[in-house]
Order: sequence, then structure tokens, then C-alpha cells
Amino acid sequence: MKVIVTGGTGYIGSHTIVDLLENDFEVVCIDNLARSTKYPIGAIEQITEKKFKFYQIDLCNKQETFDVLEQHKDAVGIIHFAAFKTVPESVANPILYYNNNLISLNNILEGIQKFGIPNFVFSSSCSVYGNAKALPVTEETPFQEAESAYAHTKQIGEQIIQHYSKVNTTKSILLRYFNPVGAHPSGILGEMLLNRPDNLVPYITQTAIGKLEQLTVFGGDYDTPDGSCVRDYIHVCDIAHAHTLALKYLIENQNHSNCEIFNLGTGNGVSVLEAIHAFEKTTGQKLNYKVGARRAGDVEKIYANNEKASKALKWHCQYNIEDAMLSAWKWENKMKELALL
Ligand code: UD1
Repeated sequence: MKVIVTGGTGYIGSHTIVDLLENDFEVVCIDNLARSTKYPIGAIEQITEKKFKFYQIDLCNKQETFDVLEQHKDAVGIIHFAAFKTVPESVANPILYYNNNLISLNNILEGIQKFGIPNFVFSSSCSVYGNAKALPVTEETPFQEAESAYAHTKQIGEQIIQHYSKVNTTKSILLRYFNPVGAHPSGILGEMLLNRPDNLVPYITQTAIGKLEQLTVFGGDYDTPDGSCVRDYIHVCDIAHAHTLALKYLIENQNHSNCEIFNLGTGNGVSVLEAIHAFEKTTGQKLNYKVGARRAGDVEKIYANNEKASKALKWHCQYNIEDAMLSAWKWENKMKELALL
């Protein structure tokens, strides 16, 4: 069965392609390489010993998008990862985010409708919840005001798909990721960063390896047990596998409506300081960090209730935060080796 993966050279997309190929799906990957490189393609093929088609096109270009979808209209589904995802960048440049994340989504949905592709999986985010009033959040927890333009594009994206689903037969799943971290256990696939990192774990590993001088913990005065923000860090391979399960769930008609939502988190809230200590403990590396000012666009604390995904998709996390930190460190060392080649 053929599946189209947009944003397939990105962080979660590339790990998902590994999982799909290992579960005998045929993959067609679309990416404009705006925030990635071709490196993951070779790494995925090395891990899985399988090949897949790759198209370098921009999904904001409707005609190019339609051309690829038409060629692969026999696909059982599309998993749509392609989007910009940096919270601070979206705060600084909101229009870039509204244009890129929403025009591409509209083009994809129009294409799915035009070419009759039956199943759709969308990358959403826990950031849609904003500063939730009660934790852990369930899929029914109402949205609060988006803290960033990035989060707002995910709220709007979900709403576009929900309206689309009222008048189309496409079956959709919206997956709300919590904080994806870690890398493939092989050590040859992980997040390829073209610029200075914004996310916590690459910031930690780059500081530990000496690329960055010091990590700043953004805020030590939040209303949390140790004053730093709380997140639900989930291994990227666990997130990846949920996509394969979600697609199978739709293909096997197990869905209860034609647009369903699932939280993808571990259910554990971990503070920034706890994450740093987990890294130090598992890798034996001492980290140079200080507690500084809060960062604009951050929510104070969020973690998931993941019962719905666990029951319906039969999805269970295989990895913990220590596994994630160790694999992230292995990947950071691999990138150092690659840079020296
Ligand atoms: C946000 C979204 C998440 C999305 C991700 C994509 C929320 C709640 N979550 O994650 O859904 O998938 O963007 O990028 O909006 N931190 C530091 N120092 C640093 C870097 C980060 O202290 O140098 C802290 C942040 O303040 C935050 C935590 O680490 O409390 C995690 O930050 P980050 O990895 O950037 O992810 P989020 O912003 O939580």
C-alpha cells in the first residue's frame, strides 16, 4: 500500500518513513528541503534497506502539488508533516507561518478531494491547547488562546480539516504531538538542524558537545515544582509508530467519525531542569547552564492524557526520557562526525 508523506525529510517525517517502510508500506516523499537536507533519504534507506520515491516540490505551489498527487492517486493516504515549527520564529514572523503552514494545507486538501485519496493524517500539536486550565489535557480540553503564530496555525489547520470533513468523505486523523525528542536508535538518523537550535534537547546536546557555550533555562519563576516549564517529552520513534497505527486504523475502517483527534504524549510532565538532569545522568556529561528570563510564546506547563490513542490505536510508548536523551546524544556525536567528513 502506497502512502504519500509530506515533509518526509524533516525530523518526525523521516522517522515515520522508517516505521512505514518497516511495516511494508510503499512511500512517496515530498519535501521542498526548506528546513532540511537530502541526508535523511540515504539514512532511511540504510536503516530499512528499502528505497522510496522523493519529489522536491513546494506544497504552496498548487500545480506542482497536484501533479505529484495525480501521479500517485492510487495512494491509500497522505501523512502531512510539512510545516514550519519554530515557536520563537513564528512570534517574530507570523505572516511567514500563516502563509507556509496554511496555504500548503489547503492545497493538499484540495488535491486529496480532486484525486480521491481516501485517508489523511495531520501533524497537529499540543500547543493548540495554549495554557490549559486543567492537566493532563484530553482531546476534549478546550483550546485557549494560542501563545504563538505557530500554535495558531495548528489551531486553524485543525479547524480547516474539521470543516472540510463535514462535506467530504476523506477520513482524517489529527495527531497532537507533545514534545518530540531523541533520535533513531541506529544513531544515523535524527533532527538535521540547519540553524541554531530553538528546541530544548538539541540545545542541550549542542552545549554538551561544545558547539554552544551555555544553555539558558527560560524562566525559573513559573508556578511549577522547580520553577521551570513542564512539558511531555516523547521519543520521536514512538511518535513515528503512531502514524503507522493511525493510518492502519483508517484503512481498516475502525474510525468512529471521519475526523478524529489523538494526543501523542507519554502522560508524564517533566520540567526543563529535570530534562537537563536526565541528560546529565544518562550520558555522564556535565552541562553548562543557567536559569534566565522567560521566553515569549511559552506555555507554563502541559502534558497529555494519552488514553484515547492507547485504547483506539493500541499505541504504547516504548521509550522513556533516558532513552531519548541517550539517542539524542548519540546523534549529536554522529553529526560531529558528519561535519568532519
Ligand atoms: C513547542 C510546542 C510543540 C511543538 C514544538 C515544535 C508548545 C507547548 N509546544 O514546543 O507542540 O512540537 O514547539 O518546535 O508550544 N527551553 C529552555 N531553553 C532552551 C530551549 C528551550 O529552557 O534553550 C525550554 C522552553 O522554554 C520550554 C521547553 O524548554 O519550556 C521546551 O521548549 P522547546 O523544545 O522549544 O519546545 P516547546 O516550545 O515546548
